Amino acid sequence: MSILVLNGPNLSRLGKREPEVYGRQTLDDINRELGASFPDLSFEFFQSEDEGALLEKIFQVEDSGSCRGVVLNAGALTHYSIALRDAISAVTIPVIEVHLSNIYAREEFRRKSVISEVCTGVISGFGANSYHLGVRALLGISRNDQL
Ligand code: DQA
Repeated sequence: MSILVLNGPNLSRLGKREPEVYGRQTLDDINRELGASFPDLSFEFFQSEDEGALLEKIFQVEDSGSCRGVVLNAGALTHYSIALRDAISAVTIPVIEVHLSNIYAREEFRRKSVISEVCTGVISGFGANSYHLGVRALLGISRNDQL
């Protein structure tokens, strides 16, 4: 069973993009560190600027039957994508919402997540460590379990 680490729009720019907010690590650095921190786990890493590609990836891992869950940083889609919310509602695998920054301590428009209600839980504000905490959260959850 693998874990899908799924990143949405603009997260490909980590390292260069607003480093004072998102840190200096690239997404590759973060993914590499995750793999190294959990050597016994199998990961799939996927990033897209495209909403549809993210939805298709969620359905693909759901249907594969070999994914124990998703650690999702949806980027700005977090704040407005009802399509992403519906996709998360449509699958049974747990989805953990993560953010590098604390979205509740930022601009008003970022304080609302349209996906939180349908995610298993939310981790926000711990920089790259948010992804690590997301993986740890998933490890405590089995397919179809309720918290
Ligand atoms: C983000 C927060 C979002 O508001 C923003 O659009 C991002 C990154 C975060 O990881 O802190 O792209 O999801």
